Amino acid sequence: MKKHVLTIACCVAVISGCAMMEEKEPKATASLEPRSGSTVSGTLTFTQVGDVVRVTGEIKGHTKGPKGFHIHEKGDCSDDKGLNTGGHFNPHKSKHGGPYEPVKHAGDLGNITFNDAGVANINFTVGDISVSKDRPDGIIGRAVIVHAATDDLTTDPTGNAGGRVACGVIVGGDAGSSQGGMKYQPY
Ligand code: CU
Ligand code: ZN
Repeated sequence: MKKHVLTIACCVAVISGCAMMEEKEPKATASLEPRSGSTVSGTLTFTQVGDVVRVTGEIKGHTKGPKGFHIHEKGDCSDDKGLNTGGHFNPHKSKHGGPYEPVKHAGDLGNITFNDAGVANINFTVGDISVSKDRPDGIIGRAVIVHAATDDLTTDPTGNAGGRVACGVIVGGDAGSSQGGMKYQPY
């Protein structure tokens, strides 16, 4: 009998623990619009998972292949070439690199790969950023940029990825949830 009660107590603890984690995971979204005369657009979700951030979403309207994908410093997509977003988000004054290299800008998310239909399905995790507004490595209020060309993951400070063909400001909250949906509009 005692064992039974203990088992049930454990189950309840695990279930409520999971539910709590789900609610507390900070999320942010970005709605990307075309820039530089492109047709590239899409939506992204950033979810804090422990020390790393999961990036998910779909971006469409690009030519096939790997294309540079970064978080840029300033959340200002007003320029028609995305130039008001500044350079790659770089709180540690580092040099450009790949997303999993020791030396990189925090905003270096590498490349996303577009298929024959011009669609990139995105789902990866990356460190060195957080879904936060206040932390030095926080990405809320900054911008995501998709580039015209492939990031070579080496050339400092741009990766030689060409023009900026889509831009979206990273906004705190979960646009897809029933609780946060109306509260956080990207624009
Ligand atoms: Cu960029
Ligand atoms: Zn960079």
